[in-house]
Amino acid sequence: MSPVRFSVVTLFPELFRSWLEGALLGKALAAGLVEVRFVDPRAFTHDRHQTVDDTPYGGGEGMVLKAEPFVAGIEAAAAAIPECVAHRVLLSPQGQRLTQGRLQALAARSHLILVCGRYEGFDERIRASVDEELSLGDFVLNGGEVAAMAVIDGLSRLVPGVIGNSASLQTESHAAGLLEHPQYTRPREFRGQAVPEVLLSGDHERIRRWRSQQMLLRTRERRPDLWAGFTPDAEQRALLAAADAEAAAAGDARSPAATGAPPGVAAAAALGPVSIALLHHPVHDRDGQVVTTALTNLDLHDIARSARTYGLERYFVVTPLTSQQELVGRILGHWRTGHGANTHASRAEALAQVEVAADLDAVIAAITARWGRSPLVVATTAARRLGQVDEAALRRRWEPGQPLLLLLGTGWGLTGELLDRADAVLLPLCGPTDYNHLSVRSAAAILLDRLFGLRQEHGPPA
Ligand SMILES: C[S@@+](CC[C@H](N)C(=O)[O-])C[C@H]1O[C@@H](n2cnc3c(N)ncnc32)[C@H](O)[C@@H]1O
Repeated sequence: MSPVRFSVVTLFPELFRSWLEGALLGKALAAGLVEVRFVDPRAFTHDRHQTVDDTPYGGGEGMVLKAEPFVAGIEAAAAAIPECVAHRVLLSPQGQRLTQGRLQALAARSHLILVCGRYEGFDERIRASVDEELSLGDFVLNGGEVAAMAVIDGLSRLVPGVIGNSASLQTESHAAGLLEHPQYTRPREFRGQAVPEVLLSGDHERIRRWRSQQMLLRTRERRPDLWAGFTPDAEQRALLAAADAEAAAAGDARSPAATGAPPGVAAAAALGPVSIALLHHPVHDRDGQVVTTALTNLDLHDIARSARTYGLERYFVVTPLTSQQELVGRILGHWRTGHGANTHASRAEALAQVEVAADLDAVIAAITARWGRSPLVVATTAARRLGQVDEAALRRRWEPGQPLLLLLGTGWGLTGELLDRADAVLLPLCGPTDYNHLSVRSAAAILLDRLFGLRQEHGPPA
């Protein structure tokens, strides 16, 4: 089998030397499974001082890496292994974030050229000579060498033969969208902390199920951003439900029922998982025309926060417009994994529940696929119509285990056709006045509090 080849374009190849001699990588290099070469852009300079950087046009701090020696270095690296198609990667804090998924995709390449920057970074025109730009994360390093090492290190683990027991890769964190389960070794007890009994049982099936359950619980607790993109299968859903039921019965302070979700929701969870959908189409405008409204940042944030507070599973933002769907994606990216995630962890947690959908059918399909059963669809409107129900009647119609989907309309409200499609339509929210022009955010919050809010006795809603 031919090795996976790395060519590192760097001004500081010596930084790699002792690192490459390390345990696993050293063996992989010796066994010919991985190959690492270096190209120094200084070799492609034509002046006495081997100049690779210069001052920025337009003024400013620091030095910028020159295009000629770096592009020549990239081209020389590719030409040195003509039998492989080179994939050229620029290491930069402006690139896509490196993930296990990206590494898995890169592992299919036979030759990777990793281009390391320094100083103030690259002359912009170097970017035309690479295939992609990767970042280690939203922070700035002094140079790309540490990032190149991360790529080589993470990717080498995926090369067959480098890790002795390749089965261990399958349960590792991020291999399948989850974090790994807790691990223990001797002694059985350390400073009052005992190894879980199941791991000493010798019962392989029990151990497998416990580990799988721990992976789910860990990911849900620690990484709401990963959890939002993960769809548990039937066994995983059962393992989660069992863990939650056990924790709730034991009054475990870490159980979702005791932490994120109030007891009202614990009662609702016995009925089924609850989602809310904000529809931007089909809705009416002030003249009664059917229109598509634009999403607002306030609705996105505030309804997500309410949904998280009242223990809902999902908040679907529904718009058929791809530009609006992309906008939601960009906002979510900022808050879930970008700068906002670091500064506002609780906002990231709320927004982790948001999903974008093109229409109501897609929402219903997603819920049905996730929970194995179609939801009871409950619409809301500020207008009176025949057959509307109050919250108590709604709870009577809601079967145990059935998912519930609450529909909210933007603009001047959901169309009659959509209200007709719902299994139930709630009575309008109203106060002691004849004014009922609540914002959809306020309506959502009031509705969720009526259905799932704690009352003074701290018991489930009647
Ligand atoms: C000091 S940084 C330059 C940052 C640049 N002025 C900017 O603001 O985008 C020097 C070099 O370190 C590398 N680098 C810095 N942070 C990185 C990160 N998060 N991921 C990958 N490479 C990084 C890049 O190769 C970059 O060109």
